[in-house]
Amino acid sequence: MKKRILVTGGTGYIGSHTVVELQNSGYDVVIVDNLSNSSADVVDNIEKVSGVRPAFEKLDCLDFEGMDKLFTKYPGIKGIIHFAASKAVGESVQKPLLYYRNNLLSLVNLLELMPKHGVEGIIFSSSCTVYGQPDILPVTEEAPIKKAESPYGNTKQINEEIIRDTVASGAPIHAIMLRYFNPIGAHPTALIGELPNGVPQNLLPYVTQTAIGIREKLSVFGDDYDTPDGSCIRDYIYVVDLAKAHVIAMDRILENKQKEKVEVFNIGTGKGVSVLELIRTFEKATGVKLNYQIVGRRAGDIEKVWANPDFANKELGWKAEANLEDTLRSAWNWQLKLRERNIQ
Ligand code: NAD
Ligand code: WQD
Repeated sequence: MKKRILVTGGTGYIGSHTVVELQNSGYDVVIVDNLSNSSADVVDNIEKVSGVRPAFEKLDCLDFEGMDKLFTKYPGIKGIIHFAASKAVGESVQKPLLYYRNNLLSLVNLLELMPKHGVEGIIFSSSCTVYGQPDILPVTEEAPIKKAESPYGNTKQINEEIIRDTVASGAPIHAIMLRYFNPIGAHPTALIGELPNGVPQNLLPYVTQTAIGIREKLSVFGDDYDTPDGSCIRDYIYVVDLAKAHVIAMDRILENKQKEKVEVFNIGTGKGVSVLELIRTFEKATGVKLNYQIVGRRAGDIEKVWANPDFANKELGWKAEANLEDTLRSAWNWQLKLRERNIQ
């Protein structure tokens, strides 16, 4: 009997890749998404990739009654993966209340509905942003949580506390919080990938849009950091590797393998890569010369962060497998496919 899973934000970037991997592992998936940052045709593309069409409900996680009815319409949901959130750091500074409402109350609704509908476990999309600039690198799950640099980052920290407090209150809920580093790339089929609205804020979509000619040139935000080549360092993880971590985490929850009721894992490669290194690797992987210039630092950027993924490697038996060249090539193939489909 297939286990039924609810994936909120399932037509989004990471959610869509995770739905495919859940389906490949035999889960029966129900997607809820309000399409505020994605489109319904992602459901068609998920079906093309996995061969299975997930149930899809256009619904806002903030709609408590609507979500309550959803669990009745789709009985037997055993677990939730909660991707749905607003995630643009810069926008969160301009519109903090939108972020606090959307990112906090959507989680509160789910946690309130879980016991009523017999939902055992929830996986929460957290972020390495909770660490700020770590004092020690690579960063482990025990590193101190630092004051958030943005309302967005703060919502991730508060969400983690909401989950801990709810479980500590005795609610019949288990949780795994996955702290993602920098997800990049697209599915090998180039049928699903990252589709940023407007001007991309994140590095790789801006790189591929520059490479294809949508953007004139990439601005590299600073080369005067205390790093080998002066540009910032991040841990770029292939989105399919990240998606697979969610399947393993869901298996762990539903097979009662957790050692704590709330567990936290760093989901990263453990390898730091600088902006300039990523550019050079992209050029090597695709044969496309990138037009870029060094400009001033971007406010709020931290200098360097990469994961110590040992706990996830050992405890989950999960490890990032893709190499950076293949990952960057997947992003380029996705950008080429978008042009073919006249989408970007
Ligand atoms: P995304 O914007 O592509 O996906 C989020 C999806 O949630 C979108 O499809 C959007 O329409 C939907 N959504 C937003 N608010 C909703 C609501 N109230 N009800 C229903 N649907 C709603 O973002 P993503 O990159 O796939 O990120 C997924 C999750 O991972 C987010 O929680 C994000 O904060 C977290 N995360 C992302 C990154 C990253 O770099 N992409 C890094 C760390 C953590
Ligand atoms: C990566 C590096 C930039 C764009 C953000 C959020 C984080 C998470 C992932 C949601 C940095 C540099 C970027 C550009 C550049 N999102 N850069 N030129 O800032 O590490 O993390 O996205 O959870 O919470 O903070 O990712 O891709 O924006 O930047 O030089 O046009 O690329 O300075 O060093 P970041 P990013």
